[in-house]
Amino acid sequence: MEVITDIRSLRRRLKRQASIAFVPTMGSLHEGHLSLVRIAQQKAGCVVASIFVNRLQFAPTEDFDQYPRALADDCRLLKDGGVDIVFAPEEKALYPSPQEFMLEPPPIANTLEGEFRTGFFRGVATLVLKLFNIVQPQAAVFGKKDYQQLHIIRELVRQLNLPLDIVAGDTVRASDNLALSSRNRYLSNEERAKAVRLYQALSQIKQGIEAGNRNFHEMEEKAKESLRSYDWEVDYIAVRQRDTLASVQADDEDMVVLGAARLGKTRLIDNLEVAAGI
Ligand code: PAJ
Repeated sequence: MEVITDIRSLRRRLKRQASIAFVPTMGSLHEGHLSLVRIAQQKAGCVVASIFVNRLQFAPTEDFDQYPRALADDCRLLKDGGVDIVFAPEEKALYPSPQEFMLEPPPIANTLEGEFRTGFFRGVATLVLKLFNIVQPQAAVFGKKDYQQLHIIRELVRQLNLPLDIVAGDTVRASDNLALSSRNRYLSNEERAKAVRLYQALSQIKQGIEAGNRNFHEMEEKAKESLRSYDWEVDYIAVRQRDTLASVQADDEDMVVLGAARLGKTRLIDNLEVAAGI
């Protein structure tokens, strides 16, 4: 496995590749990221993973400085996972001057995560487009863990006619069903024990819908109340159409229930796909 930090060397190295599958990450890797690598291996002869903590997608109040960085460990995991090339640029390689040209995502990016993380998807979309232009993969793999991000990247590719396939990977969970996340490292032992409640709250809504309940608002409110009673601060719990992330109609079949909430200082997100099966 090669670790490359500058754009010119990466471009030179990738010229020889017939097909490239790409897994963008912010590092501090876990089994969720590695599951995306395994999918990438099935899509192309050469797998490129990037590690870059993207300042553009963090609000000034957020955890950019504290975000865990573990390049040596990450490279070991990626090497064992069979990645061919790691692209791990310094900030000045990707942003040699202030990034003034920003990609404006569609209105759906101002809902859910975007409502609570101003400018988040603008920062994600701008960086991901830069990475696509640098790596020029035939396929790129994103996790359903970040369901709205996956949706927005799909729209980016579709609406800007980018010549690559976006492939989705299922959410990898710990044995208690907590979705794996780099931010889980922020949790104290006590918080870690309670963290699965977000999954449980979403799960209860999923079961309700699958049992025929169509009172989405009531189910969302009950889930929020329940989390709040266990000292969570809830940003949103929302049932949405799976393909558009728009509000659901009673006769929708393919839905997703998404949630974001804070336990102490740690903000966790999760989601579950729901098949109403009418
Ligand atoms: P990061 O949070 O490091 O996630 C990188 C990829 O791993 C994303 O596609 C994410 O959805 C996926 N992922 C994270 N946890 C997962 C889990 N438990 N199961 C399956 N996949 C999981 O998402 C980002 O970085 C950034 O926003 C990025 C796209 C790299 C742009 O900076």
